[in-house]
Amino acid sequence: MAETVIRPVIAGNWKMNLGPSEARAFCERFAQTHEPHADRTVLLFPPAIAFSAVADALAARRDIRLGVQDIHWETKGAFTGAISAAMARDAGAGFALVGHSERRHVFGETDEETGLKVAAAFDAGLVPVLCVGEKIDERRAGQVEAVILRQLEAGLARLAEDRIARILIAYEPVWAIGTGETATPDDAAAAHGTLRTWLRQRINGAADAIPILYGGSVKPDNAAELLAAPDVDGVLVGGASLDPVSFATIADS
Ligand code: PGA
Repeated sequence: MAETVIRPVIAGNWKMNLGPSEARAFCERFAQTHEPHADRTVLLFPPAIAFSAVADALAARRDIRLGVQDIHWETKGAFTGAISAAMARDAGAGFALVGHSERRHVFGETDEETGLKVAAAFDAGLVPVLCVGEKIDERRAGQVEAVILRQLEAGLARLAEDRIARILIAYEPVWAIGTGETATPDDAAAAHGTLRTWLRQRINGAADAIPILYGGSVKPDNAAELLAAPDVDGVLVGGASLDPVSFATIADS
């Protein structure tokens, strides 16, 4: 089944938070607080161990779509602790984050590996959300464009044009993640514009339909202004997605 994605996309990345019981409680409260909207896509990325609990708790809410936070590029085998894209699909995931900055900078994931994971996601019927973003020293050195385009190019390296047209991208400047420091709407628009221009050169007009999400300290009080910035087609929310009421406020922005 192909995933249709209506912009804006409001995505919550729980990271290593909310095990099955807390996840069930979140879903109950979120479902009460957040009404379905036909004009946006709401996406949750629970930890793999809580995925089935979330899928069960939200079974009646087809408007809330689910993904996993990471996948391995191999289909099966001796990779202790990892999950494959096909397993995630079998559990009900439609999406997979790939190349989140914590995967890159805490776990040492390389550009090459993100390319393998993006391709593996599509092979299994998942839509990848490829994350890119510069570190603070790279921003200070004037390397924002070079870094995010290098990550974008590597992430898409194994894809034909029809798959590129179906991907989601998240621009997440590393210095803004979990720090309370947010990129300004202008900073976000500039980076998103850089990504969009590259995508247009690669796949022409189809690039305009690719959702480019902003992530990095998105909160209920700054979500609307970020979503109003040019080329910002959604938000990827970490900390503020852990509270059902604050995530519902962002999802209604
Ligand atoms: P944050 O995380 O909203 O807590 O900054 C965003 C992310 O890492 O996706």
